[in-house]
Amino acid sequence: MDILLLGSGAREHALAWKLSQSPLLKKLYAANGNPGMARLAHCFEIPEAHPQEVLGLAKRLKVQLVVIGPEAPLVAGVADVLQQEGIAVFGPSAEAAQLEGSKHFAKQCMQKAGVPTASFEVFEQVELAVARARSWGSVVVKMDGLAQGKGVVVARTSQEAEAAVRMLWALGGGKQRLLLEEVLEGWEMSLMAICDGERFALLPASQDHKRLLDGDKGPNTGGMGAYSPLPQLSESMLEELGRLIFPPVLNVLKERGTPFKGVLYAGLMMTPQGPRVLEFNCRLGDPEAQVLLLQLNEDFLALALACAQGELRQARLKSKPGASVAVVACAEGYPADPRKGAEIFGIAQAEALGAQVFLAGAKNDFGRLRVSGGRVLSVCAQASSLPKAQEMAYAAMEKIRFEGQHFRNDIGAKAF
Ligand code: AMP
Ligand code: GLY
Repeated sequence: MDILLLGSGAREHALAWKLSQSPLLKKLYAANGNPGMARLAHCFEIPEAHPQEVLGLAKRLKVQLVVIGPEAPLVAGVADVLQQEGIAVFGPSAEAAQLEGSKHFAKQCMQKAGVPTASFEVFEQVELAVARARSWGSVVVKMDGLAQGKGVVVARTSQEAEAAVRMLWALGGGKQRLLLEEVLEGWEMSLMAICDGERFALLPASQDHKRLLDGDKGPNTGGMGAYSPLPQLSESMLEELGRLIFPPVLNVLKERGTPFKGVLYAGLMMTPQGPRVLEFNCRLGDPEAQVLLLQLNEDFLALALACAQGELRQARLKSKPGASVAVVACAEGYPADPRKGAEIFGIAQAEALGAQVFLAGAKNDFGRLRVSGGRVLSVCAQASSLPKAQEMAYAAMEKIRFEGQHFRNDIGAKAF
């Protein structure tokens, strides 16, 4: 079958790589894609969060399935218009994507579903939020809507809390609700499931590394690396976690008349009092997708299609033995002000060592590969153990060079 894949990051490059391995695939198209994806797919330039543009392209190419990588097209309702026209789509409707698009909506669903989460209050007036935040002191301030990872501040003092409220209020243009949340302590992990509206199939557990520098120091980023599975979590614990979160949430959405089809991502804080859901995303995480797709021993195209058709059967997905690691290389100045233009060398040498290099902020400039965004690429490895996967990923990263290149040296170290 012919497929259109939406997105242009390392997550989508990994999706293109995985979809390409399916015997069901005839032609792969991508919008907008990137130079890495262009080796696997025919790429088109369109505004990917524009439902009519995507519909037009999907019709013109006569694809049988559209796979949506990032959240923006989902929240914009791309899945809805495709479905109305009878085109199968892997990704939730705009209403179901509100689980990511609105933190308040996600909280309401969690309360209804009885899913454990941090206690919270919602504010529509900035001065009321300031007064409350000052009185809490230690508090998490969240903007309600999508903010590309910039919408959450963990404040530790009254002054920080007030500054965070005012900053996020301004960021939302004074139109966005704010949430104040209790600060939870513990360790974080990502748990994702492929869902067909009713049933779910759990993906392996993974862990992102959100801070820029080794030892979880420095500013928050889109994600500097990931590994999977988590040796600190047994198979039975994982299944229990899955049962705690996914069936009740899927049920709440189905009962509202907005069933969730696609990947549901739960960002968890494992606290001494038990697991708490910090957030939902309506898509695969990035860089988690890179390791999950390397670990997964299944035909992803068949799974995506089953999901789109509401016919998911597998409750347990098969994984490869061992572990996968993804290390993100970013541009100088990332995340505040990434410097673009540096030429990138060494990808073939890195892949010759058995690693996979998935591109993100990289563009083709008359045959030269150049930095075009903050997170430039992910170097990924799958091996018989986590230390071996780390060793392979870092050996491959040594082969890649561009001016200002920065990566973390401790991806996966938290597992030990
Ligand atoms: P979110 O986008 O809601 O996942 O928040 C981004 C990051 O902020 C999370 O990965 C956590 O590190 C942190 N965070 C969010 N909510 C809380 C919370 N209630 N307590 C402590 N940290 C939090
Ligand atoms: N890795 C976190 C995210 O994709 O939101």
